[in-house]
Amino acid sequence: MIDIDRVRADTPAVRDLVHFNNAGASLMAKPAFDSMLDYLRLEQSIGGYEAARERAADTARFYAEAARMLNCEASEIAFMESDTRAWLGLFFSLPMAPGSRIVTTRLDYGSHFVSFAQRRREGVETVVVDRDENGDIDLESMRRALADGAALLAMSHIPTGGGVVCDAGAAGRLARDAGVPFILDACQSCGQVPVDVRAIGCTALTATGRKYLRGPRGSGLLYVESSFLEKLEPAQLDQHGAELLDAEHFRLQPGARRFENFEVSYAGRVGLGAAMGYANDLGMADVGERVVALGAYCREALAAVPGVEITDQGRNLCGIVTFAMKKHAPDELQRYLAEHRVNISVSTTDGGSLVDFRARGIDSLARTSVHYFNTEAEIDHMAALLAELG
Ligand SMILES: Cc1ncc(COP(=O)(O)O)c(C=O)c1O
Repeated sequence: MIDIDRVRADTPAVRDLVHFNNAGASLMAKPAFDSMLDYLRLEQSIGGYEAARERAADTARFYAEAARMLNCEASEIAFMESDTRAWLGLFFSLPMAPGSRIVTTRLDYGSHFVSFAQRRREGVETVVVDRDENGDIDLESMRRALADGAALLAMSHIPTGGGVVCDAGAAGRLARDAGVPFILDACQSCGQVPVDVRAIGCTALTATGRKYLRGPRGSGLLYVESSFLEKLEPAQLDQHGAELLDAEHFRLQPGARRFENFEVSYAGRVGLGAAMGYANDLGMADVGERVVALGAYCREALAAVPGVEITDQGRNLCGIVTFAMKKHAPDELQRYLAEHRVNISVSTTDGGSLVDFRARGIDSLARTSVHYFNTEAEIDHMAALLAELG
């Protein structure tokens, strides 16, 4: 059980702010924030390279905590500046012959579709798996698409613009049966629900720091399964990712860190490591249970407000709750709630949801995203504000 008083005491902003934009960027817990500040102070007082040497254990903590959260080896983790940087680094390192096919889903993140479109120029095609009648990803269509000779399965675990948790485990089994590598975009799921890369069976996984992991902006991670990694050369390498042997030869660094560059935010890595440690200590099973329960509570509370329509589709829902009100546009709702110190966000076609929203004839939706430190009372307060608006 999570000690709500303690996690709220570690999140000072909640004293006078209701933060329901955890799918955008969450609030850092005090221990993680303090570890970053301490690190920056040390850089300021003794120098950046000297601080890195003195605090090598803090840097190593990030890899250990990521491995603990995802159930993998620390050597399978790279520190990246964002989910997208991690995803692009891996995606454009995968060799694909003309005529290869990528299988993805209608719920995938907008930036991925940009990359798929770029690779069309190399003759690589994309098959987009639809939702079924329940709003879940149609696994039978996915199975057929993979069996038809695909080069890659790329799937977002939880999309940016809706509360559904896609069945990553089932997708993993389909990819394994078809012998197809599988990149899971776990940007919204890491830190929100338990994510076990071995149980899912994904070949690679990407996540960002600032969202449900409660890490700093400008941080993220890449996981690559070790046997797959051995065959993989990053499309772009510096002399951190590879060791330069002479003017013409280099040797790849062992492990996923070959995807990193020499220069990264050291304080960011310390902060993300501490944030993941905080979540691991709370226990991801308890975190996931509370977030899903608060999400369900939020859906119920909002559905009871006259004029609110809950727009999430799918059977397995999480802490992201999307909704619409006939009389008020989503950005008006966001502004109105912000005036009352309640943060929500707006999901839009250009914010990552284009393919799914176009198929549903939607331009934008209001999105609330609850975390374990939120409370039922905060949700009731938001519902009351919306009821007042009418
Ligand atoms: C599902 C999903 N994937 C990927 C991303 C991209 O993450 P980042 O902005 O950290 O690159 C987002 C960001 O909102 C997202 O929601």
